[in-house]
Amino acid sequence: MASRHDLSNRVALVTGASRGLGAAIAQRLAQCGAAVAVNHWASAEKANQLVQKIEQSGGKARSYRADVREPASLNEMVRQINSDLGPIDILVFNATGPQPFLQIEDLTWQACLDQLEFFVKSPVLLAQAVLPSMKSRGRGRIIHIASEVFAQGTPRFSQYVAAKGAQLGLMRSWAMELAPWQITVNAVSPGWIPTERHANDAEGDKRAYAEKVPMKRMGNPQDVADAVAFLASDAANFITGQNLLVNGGNALGGT
Ligand SMILES: NC(=O)c1ccc[n+]([C@@H]2O[C@H](COP(=O)([O-])OP(=O)(O)OC[C@H]3O[C@@H](n4cnc5c(N)ncnc54)[C@H](OP(=O)(O)O)[C@@H]3O)[C@@H](O)[C@H]2O)c1
Repeated sequence: MASRHDLSNRVALVTGASRGLGAAIAQRLAQCGAAVAVNHWASAEKANQLVQKIEQSGGKARSYRADVREPASLNEMVRQINSDLGPIDILVFNATGPQPFLQIEDLTWQACLDQLEFFVKSPVLLAQAVLPSMKSRGRGRIIHIASEVFAQGTPRFSQYVAAKGAQLGLMRSWAMELAPWQITVNAVSPGWIPTERHANDAEGDKRAYAEKVPMKRMGNPQDVADAVAFLASDAANFITGQNLLVNGGNALGGT
C-alpha cells in the first residue's frame, strides 16, 4: 500500500524556489514523488541547477521564470505548467523580496505595499488561476509560508509583520471557503532560518536568537520542507486553517 506521505501523481508549484527555503521545499516535495514546478525570478541558473539535482536523484521538476507580483507573468506560468506537468495539486506561496527593517517614522505606504505584493496580491492572483482546476477535481493543497514574527510582533519590522498577518488572514478565510471542495489551506510559519540572504547577519545575533529558542538551535530549511511535505500529503487530509509554527517552540513563552 502506498504511504500516506507519498506525493506521486501530484503536481506542485513552489514560488521563489530558486534558493532559500523554497529550494528545500521543492526538493523535498520531489523526493516524495511530486512533479515540481520551480518558480524563480532573478536566479535562473540556480533554479536550473536545482531542477538538475532533482532529476539526477530520480525526481521530476521544471523551472519557470515569472514575477509572482505580475498577473500576466503568473497566468502564463500556470498555463505552461498545466501543459508541461498537468494541473497543479499543491500550491506553495513562498516567494519574498527584500525585507528591510524600518522604524515607524521611516515607514511609507510603498514599503507596506512592497510586502503586500508578495504576501497578499500574489497569493490572490495565483489562487484565482489555480482554483478552477482544483475545485473541478475536488482536491487541492494551498500552503502559505508565513512567519513566527506575526506571533512575536517583531519591532521595526511592522510592514513585513502586517503583511504576514494578512497572509494568515487569507489562509483562515480560504480554509473555510474551500473546505467543501476538500481543498485544504494551511500555513507553515518558520522561525529565523539562515538562508543566503542572511549571510552577512552578525553571528552574535544568530547565537543570541538560538539561545532563546527553547530547543537551543536555529531551524534549518529541511525542518520547514518536512512540515510542508506533511501538509501537502494525504496524511494531512483533515487538517485545514492551521498555522504550524516551525521554530523549536520559540513563540510558546511570550504569546
Ligand atoms: N528564512 C527565514 O528566516 C524565514 C523566516 C520566516 C519566514 N520566512 C518566509 O519564508 C519564505 C522564503 O524565505 P527565504 O528566507 O527562503 O527567502 P530567500 O532566500 O530570500 O528566497 C526568496 C525567493 O523568492 C524569489 N523571488 C524574489 N522575488 C521574486 C519575484 N518577484 N517573483 C518570483 N520569485 C521571486 C527568489 O528568487 P530569485 O532569486 O530567482 O528572484 C528566491 O527564490 C518567505 O515567504 C519568507 O517570508 C523565512
